[in-house]
Amino acid sequence: MEKKTLVTHICFYQFEELSLEYQQLISIAKEQTEKSYSPYSNFAVGAAVLMHNGEIFAGSNQENAAYPSGLCAERTAMFYANAQRPDIPIRAIAIAAYAHNDFLEDPVAPCGACRQALLENEGRFEQPLQILLYGKKGIYVVDSVKDLLPLCFTKESLQ
Ligand code: THU
Repeated sequence: MEKKTLVTHICFYQFEELSLEYQQLISIAKEQTEKSYSPYSNFAVGAAVLMHNGEIFAGSNQENAAYPSGLCAERTAMFYANAQRPDIPIRAIAIAAYAHNDFLEDPVAPCGACRQALLENEGRFEQPLQILLYGKKGIYVVDSVKDLLPLCFTKESLQ
């Protein structure tokens, strides 16, 4: 038997340590939580996607009485960006969540389905995208979706 260890690289920043561009991206993700439609969970999530041409597309979670018919903020924002700019890669995505009258203390963790959808963007454009996870305590920054989804299933798996 051989034991394997998978390593994930995460950088932890204070808001002021980030570039102004990333501070703005996080601020937009936070603002987007106000546009969330989340009457069932009362968990409002906002996401802001920065494209390689500098444009920003944003979205929030959209719930449904038939629960699985809703969509997370990350995929709402990312699919919106992909639909509007199908030829432009995503450079970064910022995510923030608001619940119980405040933003989360710890950086928000994207769900597995969103990680998989983010991974598809890396494969589609063959370049990594950075993920910024906002929390009041600080921001996690990962340089590739693969850091959030080790041992992943990609188009190469289908070959
Ligand atoms: N949610 C997101 O929007 N993003 C995530 O990564 C985690 C969960 C939403 C889905 C649902 O509307 C609510 O948060 C509670 O799960």
